[in-house]
Amino acid sequence: MTNHQFTLPDGFLFGASTSAHQTEGNNVNADWWAFEHRSETVVHETSGDAADSYHRWREDMDLLADLGFNAYRFSVEWARIEPAPGQVSQSALAHYRRMLQGAHDRGLEPVVTLHHFTSPRWFAERGGWTAPDAAEAFTRYTEAVAPVLDGLATHVATINEPNMLALIHTALRQGGVPADLHHLEPDEQITTAMIEAHHAAKATLHSAQPGLRVGWTVANQVFQAEPGAEDACRAHAWPREDCFLEAARGDDWIGVQAYTRTRVGPDGPLPIPDAAERTLTGWEYYPEALGEAVRHTAEVTGGQVPVLVTENGIATSDDQRRVDYTTAALTGLAQAMRDGIDVRGYLHWSALDNYEWGSYAPTFGLIAVDRDTFARTPKPSAHWLGSLARSGRLPG
Ligand code: FCB
Repeated sequence: MTNHQFTLPDGFLFGASTSAHQTEGNNVNADWWAFEHRSETVVHETSGDAADSYHRWREDMDLLADLGFNAYRFSVEWARIEPAPGQVSQSALAHYRRMLQGAHDRGLEPVVTLHHFTSPRWFAERGGWTAPDAAEAFTRYTEAVAPVLDGLATHVATINEPNMLALIHTALRQGGVPADLHHLEPDEQITTAMIEAHHAAKATLHSAQPGLRVGWTVANQVFQAEPGAEDACRAHAWPREDCFLEAARGDDWIGVQAYTRTRVGPDGPLPIPDAAERTLTGWEYYPEALGEAVRHTAEVTGGQVPVLVTENGIATSDDQRRVDYTTAALTGLAQAMRDGIDVRGYLHWSALDNYEWGSYAPTFGLIAVDRDTFARTPKPSAHWLGSLARSGRLPG
């Protein structure tokens, strides 16, 4: 039995996350769809119908609300909203407005991501984030979305994991996405462009809807220096994580996304020891990552930016291991909160088993999805986490 010990503050957002491309299905106008279908593609599986959430989002939200959650993070898809440069689809906007309203009707606070890894094909074809007008294009898209958020969303994330995007860009230029991104150099031009786009989008959102709370979400690598490698570790972390956290000073919140750790020696990242337990993504089982990521984020952002955990979870086919992992992760989170870090929410990755960027094999979901019928079945971990959310407490 879990020992519920830490009482959460009022208004704490407790729920789960998804992204559009990973769950909606048939996101045919996105650059990722094009990437999946290139003749020389390196992806194992295409996204296809995904979880068909473009049509079944009501079921998804019904389940999350019934399980006991009060928040749902999902993304709106730029490729659907602006299928051609400057051409805004009112029908796509109406779809997302219905989703936002639907979340409210069910007592779920939406946390909306504007860009979760995918861009419209036309944006990618013009050079993506390296195009001279990339920030302008993103701002124009943000302007189109702002009215839809009015009165229905409070928390908006501009770009999901810009630090991973900067690495993925380098990988794609080199011909594919390797399993281990740590040895790649993040693309500096993209980093600068995304920071600019984030700040411009934040200003646009604030002037369109002054009540919005705007942030972005960073992939926390939990870099750990081996003895004597402290300087090397700091130098490694700066372009891969810390410069993105630093850019969030002055934001309304910062999204922490933590799964595992990366040990760094004098010559760079070290391999995962053979004896370590690995998850279905090949990452080290290391639930302490969450508490450590929250503390690191608070430190780099100067302790002034409220934290939302926007992703944390485990790819496993053993649902009890998901409960074990999440119990330990939440224990670390409770300890960080007890130490005074201002954490406003926890959104588990993921609500559903979904398309994990090239494969359906790594199952992160609290809810299983049948690939043929799309039937949803909450796993025992979903009931467990939902009842924790309802209790308003964390273990630890
Ligand atoms: C993060 C992504 C998310 C999902 C999880 C496992 O890097 O934001 O879409 O793939 O990892």
